[in-house]
Amino acid sequence: MKVLIIGNGGREHAIGIKIKKDNPHVDLFFALGNGGTASIGKNIDIRSIDEIVHFAMVENIDITIVGSETLLVEGIVDKFNEHHLKIFGPHKAAAMLEGDKAFAKIFMKEFGIRTANYDAFTDVEEALRFLNNQKFPLVIKATGLAAGKGVFIIKDFQEATKCVIELLSDYTLGDAGNEIIIEEFLQGFEVSILSVCNNNKIYPLISAKDHKKIFDNDQGPNTGGMGAVAPNPLYSDIIQQDFEDNILAPTLRGLKERRLLFSGVIFFGLMVVNNICYLLEYNMRMGDPETQTILPLLKSNFLDTIKHAISGDEIYLDWDNHTSCCVVLASKGYPYSYETNKEIMGLNNTDINYVIAGANKVGNDYFTSGGRVVNIIETGDTLIEARTKAYNAVNKVNFEGVYFRSDIGVI
Ligand code: AMP
Ligand code: GLY
Repeated sequence: MKVLIIGNGGREHAIGIKIKKDNPHVDLFFALGNGGTASIGKNIDIRSIDEIVHFAMVENIDITIVGSETLLVEGIVDKFNEHHLKIFGPHKAAAMLEGDKAFAKIFMKEFGIRTANYDAFTDVEEALRFLNNQKFPLVIKATGLAAGKGVFIIKDFQEATKCVIELLSDYTLGDAGNEIIIEEFLQGFEVSILSVCNNNKIYPLISAKDHKKIFDNDQGPNTGGMGAVAPNPLYSDIIQQDFEDNILAPTLRGLKERRLLFSGVIFFGLMVVNNICYLLEYNMRMGDPETQTILPLLKSNFLDTIKHAISGDEIYLDWDNHTSCCVVLASKGYPYSYETNKEIMGLNNTDINYVIAGANKVGNDYFTSGGRVVNIIETGDTLIEARTKAYNAVNKVNFEGVYFRSDIGVI
C-alpha cells in the first residue's frame, strides 16, 4: 500500500511515524517532507495541485493525507475526487470554514454555535467608526489564511485604529485582510479538540492544550504553537459535555444542512470561560504541535481510522491513558525572521523521542531549515512525569540560537 502525506512540518513527520509504526509495510511518500520524513519514506518535490494529482495517478497512491490548510482551501480534495483518487481532507466548500473566518462566523451564528460576538468589515471608515464605542481589549482578525499571523489582541483605541488601517488600507496581509472581524475578547483557557469526520459523524480525539505565545507565561506574539500537552488537564467532564452539546452537535447539524460533510479532520479551537465553551475557530486539518502530542497516545491504527473515515464506516478510537508533553525547539528570532542551516546536535541519542519540524538531513546530520525545528515528545503516567522527561530530553539537543519555552505543561 502507498500513502502520500502532504506537508513539510512536524505534524506530517508525526503522522508518518504513527502510520509506519502500525503498518510497517506501507510505502510512505511526502510532498515536500523534511529531513525527518526522508528517514521513513520518500520526499517528492511536487507543489501544485496538478503536480500532486499527476503523481498520485502515476504512482498508484492508495491514500493521500493532507496536512496543511493552503491546498485544502485551493480545492485539492475536489480535484482528487474528480479523478476518483482517495484523499483524507475536506473539499473546498468545507475548507472555507478555516479559509474564511467571516464565513465561519456566519455559519456559527446560523446554527447556534457559541462564539464571541463580532462584526465584520471591508470598509475602513466603517470599521474605524465602529471602534469609537467599543470596550478594550478586543480582537481583530484578518478573515483569510494568514499562517497564524492574522489575529491581533488589541489593548486600546490607538492600537485598534492602527491595526484596522494596516489591514484594510495598507493591505499588510494582502488579500487575507480584505475583510476583517472585530470581536469581543474572551478571558479563559484554550482547548484544542481535533476530531475525525467520516462524512456522517464527528469523532473527537483526546483534548490538547497548545501554548501559542512565543514567551513563557503566554507573553509576546502568537506562533504556530510552541508546545502542547494531551490530554488538556483543564478539560473536565462538565466542559466536555458542554462542548458536545453546544459546539459539536450544532456543527454537525450545520455541516449536514449545508451539505458540507466530508471525510477529514475538523479541529475546534475553544476558549473556555467559567466552564462554558466558545468556539474561537475551526481548523480543517490536524493541529501542529497537537498532532505530535496526541498520536503517541493513540492505540488504534490511525491509517485504519483514515480508511474508515473515507469509506464512511464507524470509527473506534482506543487511547492509552498516559499524558503526553511536546516541547518545540525553535530558531532564534521565530516567529519573525530567523537564521537557518545550523547543525543540530544530540538527535542521535537513542533515548530521545522527537519529530523533525524544520530541518534538512545531510548524510547523518541535521541542519535547521525552519522557524520551528525539532519537537521533543515524551509520555508519562502523569503530566509532571511527561514534562520532566520532555525537558530532560530537550537539554540533550542543541543548535546555535536554539529557543524553547520552559513552561510547557505548567498549568
Ligand atoms: P484563532 O486563529 O481565531 O484561533 O486565534 C488565534 C489565537 O488568538 C487563539 O488561539 C487565541 O489565543 C487568540 N484569540 C482569538 N480570538 C480570541 C478572542 N475572541 N478572545 C481572546 N483570545 C482570542
Ligand atoms: N497549533 C494550532 C494550529 O495548528 O493551528
